[in-house]
Amino acid sequence: MKGLILSGGAGTRLRPITHTSAKQLVPVANKPILFYGIDDMVEAGIRQIGIVVGDTKAEIMAAVGDGSRWGIEVTYIPQDAPLGLAHCVLIAQDFLGDDDFVMYLGDNMLQEGLKEIVERFEHEREGATAQICLHQVPDPQRFGVAALNAEGQVVRLVEKPVDPPSDLALVGVYLFDPTVHEAVRSIQPSARGELEITDAIQWLIDQGHTVLQQILTGWWIDTGKLTPLLEANRLILETLDQSIEGKVDGASSIEGRVVIQAGAEIVNSTVRGPAIVGEGTRIVDSYVGPFTAIANDCEVVHSEIEHSVVLEHSKVTDAGTRIVDSLIGKQVEVFRSHQRPRATRLMLGDHSQVDLG
Ligand code: G1P
Repeated sequence: MKGLILSGGAGTRLRPITHTSAKQLVPVANKPILFYGIDDMVEAGIRQIGIVVGDTKAEIMAAVGDGSRWGIEVTYIPQDAPLGLAHCVLIAQDFLGDDDFVMYLGDNMLQEGLKEIVERFEHEREGATAQICLHQVPDPQRFGVAALNAEGQVVRLVEKPVDPPSDLALVGVYLFDPTVHEAVRSIQPSARGELEITDAIQWLIDQGHTVLQQILTGWWIDTGKLTPLLEANRLILETLDQSIEGKVDGASSIEGRVVIQAGAEIVNSTVRGPAIVGEGTRIVDSYVGPFTAIANDCEVVHSEIEHSVVLEHSKVTDAGTRIVDSLIGKQVEVFRSHQRPRATRLMLGDHSQVDLG
């Protein structure tokens, strides 16, 4: 069994962060989203992983390297344009050969990991050529959607339907045997100009192949937008145990599940978990509230922040009002200058969003 992780795409729904960074490398609880997928594959026993990369290729390659950190072998597969998930399978054919594989969308996160899903396809598939994972959602229009018959067999898949046949969305984890290569060669681009994996799986069904399905009950998040990203951060932070490797002075208080990474410093501040403070970050005269992840080498001084994600090398100084529900990129500065006239002065990148409360 091989692994295929899709890590291209433009990440338009997470602008401006994705003007400069790959959406799969945005951290959740101080670890890139993509690494959760790699960890899950490793746990499922997969050692050969192909990563499809696009415009953000250099950044993904710098972050993942040759995979030796995980004891895996990584092959990078460049995709010139985001032409769809089935197109990724098409260009990965040399890497995949005649092996079964699990395809994983690099911006998806799932609670239950991949081990049991992969084991089922390996040992209990009984002739099925593909296996999909489904999750009940309130807004199926945003996803690929499956229609099942009374026996629970997959009979139809539709991509982003206006009138969804069910509330079962396709999770970004798919298992295939080599029959899928014929499927991806046989389909035509969709209305949005992409070779859809849903169409490739529908082709398998139309040819009489069995496609197994499994409804996931644990949480599943497609992290591509701010709200789900904060939600993923919240869910992962809740699983961390308290660990204090950095320095906490006597005037500070640490409450609940808080991770203070090595070299971080908490001075005259309260950190209320679940929260994580990255290496080399300083929290001074401040309050860091629940569900906050502050990356490495940041500074929070005389400010309050909660339910937020802050990326590397950013500074929040004297913020005045509590910062909540926010995603702050790298090397950002949020401060109060006390200059007259009292005013808000902004220098924001393209597609930035500011809520003045
Ligand atoms: C893709 C798939 C869709 C699936 C979703 C899961 O959508 O096309 O079927 O439900 O991932 O994250 P996209 O992220 O390309 O809009």
